[in-house]
Amino acid sequence: MNTTFGVDRYAVFGHPIGHSKSPRIHTLFAQQTGQTIDYRAQDVMPESFNMDVESFFASGGKGLNCTVPLKELAFNLALQKSERALHAGAVNTLMIDATGHLWGDNTDGAGLICDLTINLQLDLSDKRLLILGAGGASRGIIQPLLEQNLANLVIANRTVEKAHALAKQFSGSGALATCSFDALAGQQFDLIINATSASLSDELPPLSGCPLAADGGCYDLAYGTQPTAFVRWGRENGASFSKDGLGMLVEQAALAFYLWRGVRPDTRPVIGLLESERK
Ligand code: ATR
Repeated sequence: MNTTFGVDRYAVFGHPIGHSKSPRIHTLFAQQTGQTIDYRAQDVMPESFNMDVESFFASGGKGLNCTVPLKELAFNLALQKSERALHAGAVNTLMIDATGHLWGDNTDGAGLICDLTINLQLDLSDKRLLILGAGGASRGIIQPLLEQNLANLVIANRTVEKAHALAKQFSGSGALATCSFDALAGQQFDLIINATSASLSDELPPLSGCPLAADGGCYDLAYGTQPTAFVRWGRENGASFSKDGLGMLVEQAALAFYLWRGVRPDTRPVIGLLESERK
């Protein structure tokens, strides 16, 4: 990899990684905050992940983001982890801590909360929330959502046993329940979050009835150049808003940038720019 001498190096590792927006987002943050950084995307296979992380930091790299399918591997590799990474069981941000050890954090869940509560100005307290899906993406957002004083949080999954197993990891929280997609018929939620990977193949999770409250909203953790199937479903079913995860992507990046650089970028112009480019 080419390096620019004297410039702090960062990268996002993933596979595939070609369409990652992270280099663009971090470069915009750096310009905005007057920082000089070199942030690149690197295609890294799971088999070589540990070696590639080691050589990145050994050669002076300052920080890494990890994305699909490497977040669990990053979790296993990090010697020290933040509490939110421990809840998520996954790491999306790596750096070397003051003691010289590899330290892992997860900014995904906090990024979602920023997008919902600051950008979309939602007050989540006493709201009824539904998460669709029980994979890694769901696990990453449960704890930060539970901290919002919700009325309840239901996880619905095609394979309902996976939802039960996931909820067990957050036991002790009375607000958390699980169900099948069929059992959603007749229920009402103020916010439905799609955390399934169905959007990646432009599919819609098999929602029974329309479990959306009168002024309820829809949020898809996935994003793309076009509205996802779930975002379209929300619009067709009268959601008060139906958004994809572009805002969350920018917010999780801003939190990683802050961890590395100690400076908080203003996310709004970056979200605005990325949104305008896909219109
Ligand atoms: P990730 O780590 O990205 O969340 P994952 O662990 O493979 O990925 O989980 C994918 C989630 O999307 C699962 O909850 C999966 O449901 P199952 O557990 O029943 O497999 C869900 N999913 C994927 N495609 C789906 C579809 N077409 N309809 C409904 N749920 C779907």
